[in-house]
Amino acid sequence: MPIQLSPDVSLTTIEDLDIEGRLVLIRVDFNTPIADGRVADDTRIRAALPTIQYALKKNARVILVSHLGRPKGKEVEALSLAPVGDVLAEHLGQEVTLSDRPLGEASAFLSQNLKEGEVLLLENVRFHGGETKNNEHLARELAAFTDFYINDAFGTAHRAHASTTGITQFIHEGVAAGYLMVEEVRALSQVLNAKRSELVAVIGGAKVSDKISILKSLVLRANSVLVGGAMAYTFLAAQGHEVGSSLVEEEHLKTAQELLAFAQERGVNIILPVDHLAAAEFNESAIPVSIDQIDIPDGLMGLDIGPKTIAAFQEVISHAQVLMWNGPMGVFEWPSFSTGTFAIAEAFASSEAYSVVGGGDSVRAIHESGLADQVGHISTGGGASLEFLEGKPLPGIEAIIKRDAELTALKEELDRELAAQPKVANIDSH
Ligand code: 3PG
Repeated sequence: MPIQLSPDVSLTTIEDLDIEGRLVLIRVDFNTPIADGRVADDTRIRAALPTIQYALKKNARVILVSHLGRPKGKEVEALSLAPVGDVLAEHLGQEVTLSDRPLGEASAFLSQNLKEGEVLLLENVRFHGGETKNNEHLARELAAFTDFYINDAFGTAHRAHASTTGITQFIHEGVAAGYLMVEEVRALSQVLNAKRSELVAVIGGAKVSDKISILKSLVLRANSVLVGGAMAYTFLAAQGHEVGSSLVEEEHLKTAQELLAFAQERGVNIILPVDHLAAAEFNESAIPVSIDQIDIPDGLMGLDIGPKTIAAFQEVISHAQVLMWNGPMGVFEWPSFSTGTFAIAEAFASSEAYSVVGGGDSVRAIHESGLADQVGHISTGGGASLEFLEGKPLPGIEAIIKRDAELTALKEELDRELAAQPKVANIDSH
């Protein structure tokens, strides 16, 4: 059954299409970290398995398309999907053929000769410069490989690229969302549609500039916004506090002031750190210094939130009905400055609220805390989940909805024409 997104918009899912034995191109997001030529974190590969396995169960001939990194139209060996193909083959327990380039004769030949239940992984689609330009030629060529198109790449749904949007226009049999896309949309919609009084957001990370849009949107949607990470020092500096040598985005002091004033007007609490863990230098082995006040003395930089802030944040989190978290509270990769971030992970895990964690670092932190199974949803999207939560339409989702509606209208028109044709009498030859 299609998923109802709003009273008049629905999202067709892979289960709604008759893909038995057919060619099915699935856009996945296998943009995973690679270290020493190996996949360092296979979360996104595992997240795509339900859709791939469903297609294989239906004996489909499966073609997978993904990007990896930003090769800018060049064939960069370090960004080959080969290591991803190996991990995928292990998870699926079957061979995965990797084409040598996204387009070209070899890819066309391999796709047309795929047998039922076989998997072809096209090489990094961003090796083709047309991908990020949403080039029509690339979109057409990719579409020519397949009967059906499934978008399961939630992490890339905020990009209007050839393999996420352009391709849909040239698909004639059917387009739909995969299981991961549906799961992300369902989970994030619960945050987006939460009542203002219910929602508490925790936002962290290094820069205010990366999070301006989500902060603006949260001031309209949330009851409280808890701000940690280096971006908190820009807010504190904007309020006139001393922040020592902490990271401050001078060019965004005004933005921070405007956000604070806007929040005050709307009666939204932007809660900033009241104490800190600091150090004299930005170094993993730097000696942590507790600062039991808002102002940070000269010569020290804040690298984590302090115990009073942790307690205050935990208290607010414990009263929420819906929680979202994006961005760490400090330099959590360094054990001496990880307490604040892991305290948020614990507060999320022990809360009864529906909770969503998104963004690479917070997702990593929740996994490292061992509490991942105690939160409502962990998003595979960084930028995509932020844009979704800002209420922006995601091009990858919009494209399937639009093309699906066009194909349905075409089918209805064809059915009407067939029904209007005069019936040919059944001539009995006897
Ligand atoms: C991501 O990791 O956020 C997605 O795969 C999109 O990658 P991009 O930011 O390079 O478009």
